[in-house]
Amino acid sequence: MSSPAPALSPAPLDAAAIRTDFPLLGERVNGQRLVYLDSGATSQKPQAVIDAEVDFLTRTNSAVHRGAHTLAAEATELFEDARATVAGFVGAQPEQLVWTSGATAGLNLVAYAIGNASLGRGAPDSARFALRPGDEIVVTEAEHHANLIPWQELAARTGAVLRHIPVHDDGSVDLNAAAAVIGERTRIVAFTHVSNVLGIVNPVDQLVDLARSAGAVTVLDACQSAPHLPLDLPALGVDLAVFSGHKMLGPYGVGGLYGRSDVLEALPPFLTGGSMITTVTLDEASYLPPPQRFEAGTQPVSQAIGLAAAVRYLDGLGMPAVHAHEKALEARMAEGLRAIPGVRLLGDAAGAERVGLWAFDVEGVHAHDVGQFLDARGVAVRVGHHCAQPLHRRFGLTASVRASTSVYNTTDDVDVFLDALSGVRAFFGAGA
Ligand SMILES: Cc1ncc(COP(=O)(O)O)c(C=O)c1O
Repeated sequence: MSSPAPALSPAPLDAAAIRTDFPLLGERVNGQRLVYLDSGATSQKPQAVIDAEVDFLTRTNSAVHRGAHTLAAEATELFEDARATVAGFVGAQPEQLVWTSGATAGLNLVAYAIGNASLGRGAPDSARFALRPGDEIVVTEAEHHANLIPWQELAARTGAVLRHIPVHDDGSVDLNAAAAVIGERTRIVAFTHVSNVLGIVNPVDQLVDLARSAGAVTVLDACQSAPHLPLDLPALGVDLAVFSGHKMLGPYGVGGLYGRSDVLEALPPFLTGGSMITTVTLDEASYLPPPQRFEAGTQPVSQAIGLAAAVRYLDGLGMPAVHAHEKALEARMAEGLRAIPGVRLLGDAAGAERVGLWAFDVEGVHAHDVGQFLDARGVAVRVGHHCAQPLHRRFGLTASVRASTSVYNTTDDVDVFLDALSGVRAFFGAGA
């Protein structure tokens, strides 16, 4: 038998050329070339995305799924094509993708839909999602507030108990603790694919296995993975997952909720109103199947079309190449950060699979001062708790600095950032 062909590494990205596709990156900030290392908060947009939205608004703008006129039909076709494109990007079928206004909206949709099931609403098989007092919802200690507070609220409404899986000192999920926390009372396990503070790719398989053996529903926050690595949500085995358009080169105000077909079929709606019904009387209404059942009211149409352009752009680069590029930037950044005295990395787990994101503390200098110091040198980073207060508290911090990359970052960007950062402690009189 002949040996299998070796896996081909993707061709490296030409980030300097990619950068020219992003008009904002050509702007000067504080008189300097912009080094944008805040893509974890929101990414820049390529001209192709801007053009797609402007083109739709200029030439096709019309209400989707409603009018019988030509423009309405064309707008509907573009909107549904966008759904198919974005669904395909995460390995899903079009009917498995619900448009939302972003990941926060998607997670709240799921939590409120489960809350409605708990009130006895929905089709008979909605009962499988119903929470009773004492049932358990499990999250990790590393969640963004968007994947924490909706579950706190759901627990408060239903009498369920919210539990958490701790992370180790190196930021990796404590799988032994997970096995102890996830048990027969667990009904929901909601966790992030990649923490927006730690940058570590979490062991989805193992968490899904634990949740499945407990019969729990899994909800994945894929905000920080979808823009950075090849993603096949059905293959990951999660029941539901959310992602955010503005973090993946797309417009604001649009995101996706993926659901396994049988899960979406059984979930009751959260928002109700126009466009999600089949028949309405003055007393009651019946609902369309998913995804429309979860899309009450006017949808983010031009934004969805812009997001489809964004995923086409990413697909054009190739997600394996995107991931390889950002891993190389991450490794360069880590090496440089470790060499700067007084810098403590968060989530520095040996051998962990990562995306291009590092959060860190600078001894003796407040994160906001670090941010301003870098900003004056043209380097944009995020400072604060990054909507992850419990995780910061876990590490004894109230704030950190975060540098996060995307397809348009070059090794030069990383070097400019490291060079600037190496002077920050001396500037603030905090050490060498
Ligand atoms: C891990 C994670 N989850 C959820 C969110 C919220 O996403 P959105 O802005 O789409 O509501 C963010 C955004 O910062 C995030 O990083």
